[in-house]
Amino acid sequence: MRIITIALWWCRGVWKNTDNSTFLISNGVFMDVFITGTETFFNDDEIIVSKTNLKGRITYANRVFLDIAGYSEKEVLDQPHNLIRHPDMPRCIFKMLWDTVQEGSEIFAYVINRCKNGDHYWVYAHVTPSFDNSGKITGYHSNRRVPDRKVLDEAVIPLYKELKAAEQNRDNRKQGLEASQSMVSAFLAERSMAYDEFVLTLGQEGRRGYR
Ligand SMILES: Cc1cc2nc3c(=O)[nH]c(=O)nc-3n(C[C@H](O)[C@H](O)[C@H](O)COP(=O)(O)O)c2cc1C
Repeated sequence: MRIITIALWWCRGVWKNTDNSTFLISNGVFMDVFITGTETFFNDDEIIVSKTNLKGRITYANRVFLDIAGYSEKEVLDQPHNLIRHPDMPRCIFKMLWDTVQEGSEIFAYVINRCKNGDHYWVYAHVTPSFDNSGKITGYHSNRRVPDRKVLDEAVIPLYKELKAAEQNRDNRKQGLEASQSMVSAFLAERSMAYDEFVLTLGQEGRRGYR
């Protein structure tokens, strides 16, 4: 039993099953993560909202969040936000998200999230720090809208696939993250753009309403 546990510890990664569902092993523990490959949608006039504490634990989720993710409020409150993490999301995007909000700035990002039943949905997220009167960060807030389908298909999905491949094609998580971060830097340098500029440029062609 101990040997199996140790083996699992080292074999962190993503396994695809014959039905295309995926089980994610993280830190030696089988996490309750499987995907169906079925996309689900929310409406153009809806906003998915959640708030977290400084550690990324959910302190608030609105009705749209709960409905699309398929969780009850009780199931999400005080849970880490990676509860809805989808295995197709590159880690370097979350690293950038956390680095940005922890330094007190806002970030826009395209994110694929996993529903409780294994389906997924894409969002265009605006994540901001919340401050108290003395300017201290007290938590974080994310508003998510329907993303532009053309931007997803033509830019975001191909980019994230490359970043994921770079992350998986390394001996360990640290090297994988470094590889995908270098890839993002090279990608932006080629376009002479900062990340936020790149994301906002993508959004300009009418972010909402595409399906
Ligand atoms: C306000 C806020 C909202 C977030 N929203 C999401 C989200 O919708 N989906 C997601 O996978 N991670 C979200 N995250 C990032 C998670 O905290 C976490 O970094 C990410 O899921 C990666 O998890 P991992 O480090 O365990 O791989 C959010 C973080 C904050 C601060």
